[in-house]
Amino acid sequence: MTLQSTISPWWKSPYFAEKAVDGAAKFWFSTILIGQAIFSYYIVAFYYTAILTNDIAGLNKVMPAGHIEGDYWGNIAVMGHIIFAAIITIGGLMQLLPFIRSKIPALHRWTGRLYVLIAIIMSLSGAFMIITRYDKVIGGLIGHTSIMINGAIILVCAVMAFKFARQKKFVKHRIWALRLFIAVSGVWFFRIGFMAWLSIHGKPVGFDPVSFSGPFLTVLYMMVYIMPLAFLEVYLRVKARGSVSQKLSTSIGVILLSFILIGGVFGATMGMWLPRI
Ligand code: HEM
Repeated sequence: MTLQSTISPWWKSPYFAEKAVDGAAKFWFSTILIGQAIFSYYIVAFYYTAILTNDIAGLNKVMPAGHIEGDYWGNIAVMGHIIFAAIITIGGLMQLLPFIRSKIPALHRWTGRLYVLIAIIMSLSGAFMIITRYDKVIGGLIGHTSIMINGAIILVCAVMAFKFARQKKFVKHRIWALRLFIAVSGVWFFRIGFMAWLSIHGKPVGFDPVSFSGPFLTVLYMMVYIMPLAFLEVYLRVKARGSVSQKLSTSIGVILLSFILIGGVFGATMGMWLPRI
């Protein structure tokens, strides 16, 4: 055996592979952090202002099933859904910030309890809106069914993350908390995926913008939580016991996905959120 054959290049070392997978995850989280912070800002600047100034016409222009005269409980569900939307988005980002977990664990625990509770409220209020206003909420049967499945996944992940935290089984808690974060982010991924698609094509392709239905939307509705959840499972397995080449290819995949997210965040911010504020 020659000396050359025993020395492998630095980028094939387990150390580099570990650093690459961690670095890719940090890059992915940074794009999520910025994108979801902008989404929260949009919810506060647009919806909170509309609610505080009683601007019902403005609210209904963006949300066809926003305020409906005489539907007391439906309107309460919409208000709660919107108010908690910004809080859960900011709360999720806080939960994933490593320095809060390590330096202020009490804050992590309380934000975590609140996050689980709000996740349940979001799923139930969303389901209530779909069931009671199915003829006005956009998305049709496929969109409604898909987001209801997303809501059910959120409920399961919230209960499991909470249960394992109570039992102090922190390895399992972390996995379920990450699944919960990804499932909750499904609605955000939908907006990002939708705007990335529009930015690429420059016009509606694969769906009808009036009825808001079509093959592209059917796929998108399902993919926004199935695909990120599947990626999370792959990432967790590769991180725990993947080979060097699996870690390197996962890192490249995560970085590519992050660039798609950046495109979508840019499209959603410029094309959807900023013009409404
Ligand atoms: C948990 C995270 C969630 C967040 C952050 C969130 C956020 C929002 C926001 C901001 C809106 C207003 C529309 C917009 O400007 O984009 C909205 C609308 C809505 N959401 Fe959610 N949502 C979440 C989960 C859910 C779930 C799980 C369901 C269903 C089970 C749901 C059902 C709805 C419905 C039906 C609307 C009204 C859409 C319309 O009027 O056309 N949401 N949500």
